[in-house]
Amino acid sequence: MSGSQLWDDVDNYFSGHLSPDDEALEAALRDSEAAGLPAISVTPAQGKLLQILAQVQGARTILEIGTLGGYSTIWMGRALPEDGRLISLEYSAKHAEVATRNLARAGLERVAEVRVGPALESLPKLADENPAPFDLVFIDADKANNAHYVEWALRLTRAGSLIVLDNVVRGGRVLNADSTEPDVVGTRAALDLIATHPRLTGTAIQTVGSKGHDGFALARVLA
Ligand code: SAH
Ligand code: DHB
Ligand code: MG
Repeated sequence: MSGSQLWDDVDNYFSGHLSPDDEALEAALRDSEAAGLPAISVTPAQGKLLQILAQVQGARTILEIGTLGGYSTIWMGRALPEDGRLISLEYSAKHAEVATRNLARAGLERVAEVRVGPALESLPKLADENPAPFDLVFIDADKANNAHYVEWALRLTRAGSLIVLDNVVRGGRVLNADSTEPDVVGTRAALDLIATHPRLTGTAIQTVGSKGHDGFALARVLA
């Protein structure tokens, strides 16, 4: 049995017991696939982790950068109270449309909002609205901009907020300090920022599973 088959089987065993997809989550994946969106959503186990992190945060407000079909959005949105708010930023109008339908089917239309456009354009507009600080920020878009996204997250959060970055390992490509791959450069810059910024303390955790060898960085806002 290859490593990845074993990782897959263990992932499926855990998710099957602890975080099975329900109707709305399954439909979100099905419709995303039917619309031709890439199958790169977080896994069910990772979605549940994001949900638990949001609950631990007592989150009332969540910012997501990179919506895709809204699968991770549904997991996190379900952690929010009825008057909570989740804003998810998505470059692709098509992805946003699929996500908006998926969120409505999950009963989250009043809580979750998808904003279309490059996140680096949406973020200053969002900041201009002086929103209440976000309790959780999930960064999962174009990795080249990860350091910029962490900087924006810092501006839009409070002491105690949590910032999560997806895909910080990418099968080990993060190790290559000489890489010219924009994704690797961007993620390494984000990790440097987390390591050195006086308002951040962080860690990164490798994962294996149905999405291969990857990982999350977690950063807590200190002040
Ligand atoms: N969080 C989702 C997966 C996101 S995939 C989930 O787990 O279900 C990454 C998404 O980021 C894609 O939909 C892609 O279109 C979007 N994206 C890429 N570049 C972007 C940018 N500059 N601004 C906003 N979104 C971007
Ligand atoms: C891939 C996975 C992701 O989680 C993501 O955000 C972008 C790309 C991938 O496997 O290619
Ligand atoms: Mg991702």
